[in-house]
Amino acid sequence: MGATLCAPKKKKTQVGASWVGNESENPFDLALNKKDRTLLRETWQRLDDPKDIVGLIFLDIVNDIEPDLKKVFGVDRAPRAAMLKMPKFGGHILRFYEFMEQLTSMLGTSENLTGAWQLVRKTGRSHVRQGFLEQNQNQMEKNYFEIVINVFIERLIPFLTGEQELPSSEGKENKKVRFAQNYTTSQITDVWKKFLNTVISQMTDSFELERAKQKSAQTTKALAPHQHIEISERKKKRVAEKQSEIENTAVSNEPKAQEQMFEDPF
Ligand code: HEM
Repeated sequence: MGATLCAPKKKKTQVGASWVGNESENPFDLALNKKDRTLLRETWQRLDDPKDIVGLIFLDIVNDIEPDLKKVFGVDRAPRAAMLKMPKFGGHILRFYEFMEQLTSMLGTSENLTGAWQLVRKTGRSHVRQGFLEQNQNQMEKNYFEIVINVFIERLIPFLTGEQELPSSEGKENKKVRFAQNYTTSQITDVWKKFLNTVISQMTDSFELERAKQKSAQTTKALAPHQHIEISERKKKRVAEKQSEIENTAVSNEPKAQEQMFEDPF
C-alpha cells in the first residue's frame, strides 16, 4: 500500500459552513507561537479602558479616514462629540471590543485556536449582510477590513506598549498600578502586527467566499423557474415513454385473441 494511504488522516476543521482545512493549517497557529499568544492576551488585559480606546479609534476612522462609513454606522448627522452615543456606532464599538476580548482569550488563555479561527471567519462572513460592504468591499482596491485594522495597528499598539495612555477623565482615578513590563516594545509591536494581519486576511477571505456563495445561490434561484419547467417536461416525456413501453410489452404478451368463426351467410 502507498505511503499516502498509510499516513494518519489529519483532522479536518469545520470553519463555518465549509470544511476549509486541517487544524495544522490554522493561521493563528502558523503565525503565533504559544509565547506570542500569551503576550497578546496579557498586553490586551493590561489596557485600562479598552472599550474607550476602541471608541477613540473608530471616531478617527469615520471622521478622518473613511467618512463613507459614517452613514453605515448611523452617525452621518451627528457631531463628533455625540457619535459614541449613537446606537449603531456605539453598538459596533462594543461588538468590536467583545470580539477582541474573546479572541485574545481563546488564543492566550483557553488555547482554543480552532474557536478563534472560527470566530474570525464567522465575523467576516456575517459582514456580507452589510449592504455597503456587499456592494463596495474590494480586496484589490478598497478593502475596508484592511483599512479599519490598519488604523488599529497604528493607533492601538502604542497603548499596548505603554507608550500612550488615555487622558484620565475628571473624577476618574488614574490607575497607575502597572504590571512589570516583561515584553519589549518591538516584541509587542511584532506580535500584534502578525495577529492583526491574520485577522485582516481571514476576514477578507471568508467575506469573499460568502459573498460568492450567496451570489451563486441567487443565480440558481433566478434560474429555477425555467429549470423547473425543463425538468418537469423531461419527466413527463420519460413517463410517457415508459407508459408506451409497458403498453407495447403488454400487447405483445397478451394471448392472441381466438379467431372468431362467423356463420357462413351462404
Ligand atoms: C475590520 C474589522 C471588523 C470587525 C472585527 C468587526 C466586528 C463586528 C462584529 C463582531 C459585529 C457583530 C456580530 C457580527 O455581525 O458578526 C459587527 C457588526 C457590524 N459591522 Fe463590523 N467589524 C469590522 C469591520 C466592519 C466594517 C469595515 C464595517 C463597515 C461597513 C462594519 C460594519 C458593521 C455593521 C453595520 C454591523 C452591524 C451592527 C449593528 O447592526 O448593530 N464592520 N462587526
